[in-house]
Amino acid sequence: MYRTHTCGALRIEQAGQTVTLAGWVQTVRKFGSITFVDLRDRYGITQLLFNESLNAKLDAQPLGREFVVQATGTVNERSNKNANIPTGEIELLVTEFSILNKSAVPPFTIQDDTDGGDDLRMKYRFLDLRRNAVKRNLELRYAVNRSARNYLHEHQFMDIETPFLIKSTPEGARDFVVPSRMNAGQFYALPQSPQTFKQLLMVSGYDRYYQIVKCFRDEDLRADRQPEFTQIDCEMAFVEQEDILQMFEGLVKRIFKDVKNIDYTEQVKRITWEEAMWNYGNDKPDIRFGMEIANLKFPKHAFPTRNAAVFNEGTNGAEHAALASDFSVFNSAETVLAIAAPGCSEYTRKQTDELTEWVKRPQIGMKGLVFIKCNKDGSYKSSVDKFYPETQLKALADAANAQPGDLVLVLAGNEERTRKATSDLRMEMASRLGLRKNDEFKLLWVLDFPLFEYAEEENRWVARHHPFTSPKPDQIEVMINNEPTIADASKYLEHPYSNIKANAYDMVLNGNEIGGGSIRIYQRELQEKMFAALGMSEEEALHKFGFLLGAFEYGAPPHGGLAFGFDRLCAILGGSESIRDFIAFPKNNSGRDVMLDAPGPIDQKQFKELQIKLDLA
Ligand code: AMO
Repeated sequence: MYRTHTCGALRIEQAGQTVTLAGWVQTVRKFGSITFVDLRDRYGITQLLFNESLNAKLDAQPLGREFVVQATGTVNERSNKNANIPTGEIELLVTEFSILNKSAVPPFTIQDDTDGGDDLRMKYRFLDLRRNAVKRNLELRYAVNRSARNYLHEHQFMDIETPFLIKSTPEGARDFVVPSRMNAGQFYALPQSPQTFKQLLMVSGYDRYYQIVKCFRDEDLRADRQPEFTQIDCEMAFVEQEDILQMFEGLVKRIFKDVKNIDYTEQVKRITWEEAMWNYGNDKPDIRFGMEIANLKFPKHAFPTRNAAVFNEGTNGAEHAALASDFSVFNSAETVLAIAAPGCSEYTRKQTDELTEWVKRPQIGMKGLVFIKCNKDGSYKSSVDKFYPETQLKALADAANAQPGDLVLVLAGNEERTRKATSDLRMEMASRLGLRKNDEFKLLWVLDFPLFEYAEEENRWVARHHPFTSPKPDQIEVMINNEPTIADASKYLEHPYSNIKANAYDMVLNGNEIGGGSIRIYQRELQEKMFAALGMSEEEALHKFGFLLGAFEYGAPPHGGLAFGFDRLCAILGGSESIRDFIAFPKNNSGRDVMLDAPGPIDQKQFKELQIKLDLA
């Protein structure tokens, strides 16, 4: 036995006992005839005390950082207690020790505040994983995993594995492909998700399925995206949307309780996709704070059903009555949106100039920013005073729900860009004002997504979620009775498909999409119609998804499901937006594993076996 206890186990109650510990040397401090060593393992740190009699041995075999050491001795009450660590009241008076293995000098210090840069830590990830900060993240990940499995097991879900070597049917992201040696010239694809398999399992009668499973997508990476990531993937048969929402909001609430000891008892708020876009400019709004968008002017095509009394309706859109003036920027803009930043009315010129520069950055892409200061004395002051008398400024500020002391920020321009920019500005202001707190959690269901999006470059409809998502029942007719073809691509918003809503839902946590799913199509004819709507010929649909269409002929039950982004959920619960910190061996932003140095070239022999010739253009 290498050890009787771990380095986090010993307390004052064990004083006097003889014990053996094994672990890594964190620090060595020598004071004359005695030496202190902090010994670390996964469970904690215990101080070892080497007295004079062992010092000679230590001089002969000096301990370096990260050496693996075994030490036996007596647990002793410390004279100088350390209240910061659980073992801080004791130390081990070492009587015997041996070096189990030496360590080279580590390339960075293995402690909470390390001096190692990102690349270095990724190259030596096995050392980085020894650090508390990373260890805590992996512990949290494991706790989320356990909690999810318990909940799903208690609700009769069965964990069923699905294959990783499947057929390439790119739709959405690009596939990672794997050449087949036994079928020369043919390729498998790694699954972007187990979507079709879980649907087949429903046809097979396994009415509650789940899997905590790797998914592979060859897409551009960001802080919240990895080329291989993990989903909590679920599917249920004989359900409607409401059943799914209840079941999986239950799952997340259970995780909150088990992992964070948070009683999230309130019903998760629900809004439609259209409300999300209207009020927040974004389909995954952060609702920890208000600052909702005031729609002062917008084109009809974006929100055909929205017209309030205060608006002057035109043929192309609607405009808030108080916007009427000679101000050409607003007059020529398709969309004018505003938010009220709380308590910012006293921003200096320097601060407002800086915000203007912020919206002009290429990532945001706006030409400028208009301010209305709602002074505490009830007066209004604006950068466009020349065009707007105070009564109009007040009406616009009121539309943005501004209070005395707030600063109204107004953006104008093209609908899509302005809405996104306003959403970005809203998030930026909330961050600056400290309204996005890591320890506050607000869940949200976003419902009724559009079924289709129009891909102008490809001149065809694409599925907004995926091609297996069903339209809202009352809109199936619209899909069946209309052909997908569009004569003038720029007028796609006038096509009936633009307004078909899907039986699809996303779960949003603090402004991040942590999960999404839908009620599925389960009849062959409707699924065929969907493939046709996406521009697939009959042959292509059969070639790619014949197995699913065939299965739908043998008693497919109504079904639906969703998948959570497991890495994202963990990251947010851990107070971070970078999922890499919650993955033991992540890839960098170019999709490389810098530790393995992968991807890399392969041998000529391997190419030969695969009958593949490399032709790098
Ligand atoms: P979707 O594509 O929305 O749905 O994925 C589900 C959730 O997975 C997370 N996610 C990612 N996380 C990290 N890196 C990525 N590259 C990445 N891509 C997605 C997100 C997302 O909400 N089969 C459907 C689910 C269903 O319909 O049941 C699917 O995969 O948090």
